[in-house]
Amino acid sequence: MIPNIAAFKDLIKDRVGLHFYNGMEGLLNAALHQRISERGKESSAEYYEKLCVSSVEFDKLLSLLTINETYFFREPEVLDIVCEKLVPRMLEQKGGPVRILSAGCSSGEEAYSLAIKLHQKYHDKFARSVEIHGCDIDVKILEKARAASYSSYSFRGVDPLLQQTYFTRHGNQFQLHDVIREKVTFHRSNIVKEQLQPQFDIILLRNVSIYFDVETRRLLHFNLLNILQPDGALFFGNAETLANNFGILKLKQESGHFYFCQPKTSRLQPPAASVAPRIITPVIPAQAPFVAASVPSVQQCDSWIKKALACVADKRFVEAEEWISQVLDSDIDNQEALVIKGAIALEKCEFEQTALSAQHVLELDEWSAEAKMLLGLAMMWQHHTQQAIAWFKQVVYQQPGYWPAHYYLAEMYRQSELHRPAQRTYRITLQLLNAEMNNTTANASSLRLPLSFPSNSFRFLCEHQLAQFTSQDGI
Ligand SMILES: C[S@@+](CC[C@H](N)C(=O)[O-])C[C@H]1O[C@@H](n2cnc3c(N)ncnc32)[C@H](O)[C@@H]1O
Repeated sequence: MIPNIAAFKDLIKDRVGLHFYNGMEGLLNAALHQRISERGKESSAEYYEKLCVSSVEFDKLLSLLTINETYFFREPEVLDIVCEKLVPRMLEQKGGPVRILSAGCSSGEEAYSLAIKLHQKYHDKFARSVEIHGCDIDVKILEKARAASYSSYSFRGVDPLLQQTYFTRHGNQFQLHDVIREKVTFHRSNIVKEQLQPQFDIILLRNVSIYFDVETRRLLHFNLLNILQPDGALFFGNAETLANNFGILKLKQESGHFYFCQPKTSRLQPPAASVAPRIITPVIPAQAPFVAASVPSVQQCDSWIKKALACVADKRFVEAEEWISQVLDSDIDNQEALVIKGAIALEKCEFEQTALSAQHVLELDEWSAEAKMLLGLAMMWQHHTQQAIAWFKQVVYQQPGYWPAHYYLAEMYRQSELHRPAQRTYRITLQLLNAEMNNTTANASSLRLPLSFPSNSFRFLCEHQLAQFTSQDGI
């Protein structure tokens, strides 16, 4: 191990945000060894000095450290909402072209996927209506993006007809046609610190923030405040959105998709790093009106919640909603009431309401497995399979013994034709169900959700699906 690896870690995090936590240290160590040996006989201390002053050397090391995994039409639902809803709406609202940024664009597949989709929609008008930019910190990968020549690895799951329409094959490589290639401009830019101007209407920042720690992600949000247009939309990867909800940008939901937009209030400033916190004494107006003690007690709220739960159990949803409104009128952030409200909305197929209630809970407690389960179910019923998978995975991760999350994850895998993961996950569900039946699980995990999952029916469904897989395999 490089002796002064901690100093390298700090330098890289400070410059570009990349965070090498323990599991990733090996990558940094290997890259440092490679660069030091390529340069000759320098000590790691000398190499550190060089790195501090040479941007060329910094870029070379960085190219060994960035993870550039990407492919065409990744998480396609987001591309759909951008091209089918946001761009048409923005074109209607503003005079000039809509500006889109693929931030952390890697070798360009994301930016070009958008360009292809928009070309399909707008044909020649596209050139005048939309600007697409890609930025990345890694200069080497940007060369690949500009060259726009790809191996079949970049086309996982892409419709072959679409590939034939927009690419020409040369040996093992596929060259993107100029009509699309010329539409995208690439820049080297550090999205954590540098402000690309003019502002963008739509920013895709997917699968980048996963390499940053919380402190860097907060800084990134303050930077994004300046890069995003007042009516713009910023998308993270499906599974990243929550970990980026700091209240700096505002989370919005549209047709089952979450994105961030500018808050209505005036712009927030990032906290100055070295300023000591000040204690501000609240000023109480001399003439403050006296508020009579009409706030319901905690016991009162608990009793309303019990009444609401009894109504939900009897499927008397309207009555249940009335009890829940009483709780929320007096305590707008009552998590249990919000979860019940989300569950009732789910029963009534009001999925947007379910998502809003669940999102409210997550703003109060980012570890609420109940809220994540509700979001998974809401996404599933709206056929947003990939998002449902992301939520169910989070529940499974937090509550590995909670079989309904495993079951629905298996269902989503099956619907996505991911047969092996589906089979494996149905089997896990069955094991958990059997353990629950035989009372062999010490701590059968459960969530405080007023939804019923009858074990017998679910066991039957799992066995049925597994039998189907076996008969398909036998054909
Ligand atoms: C895993 S790729 C994601 C590619 C694409 N957005 C996607 O979702 O398929 C992450 C990219 O983020 C880039 N990146 C990392 N830190 C960055 C920073 N501070 N500014 C700009 N790009 C950065 C990396 O170089 C890498 O190419």
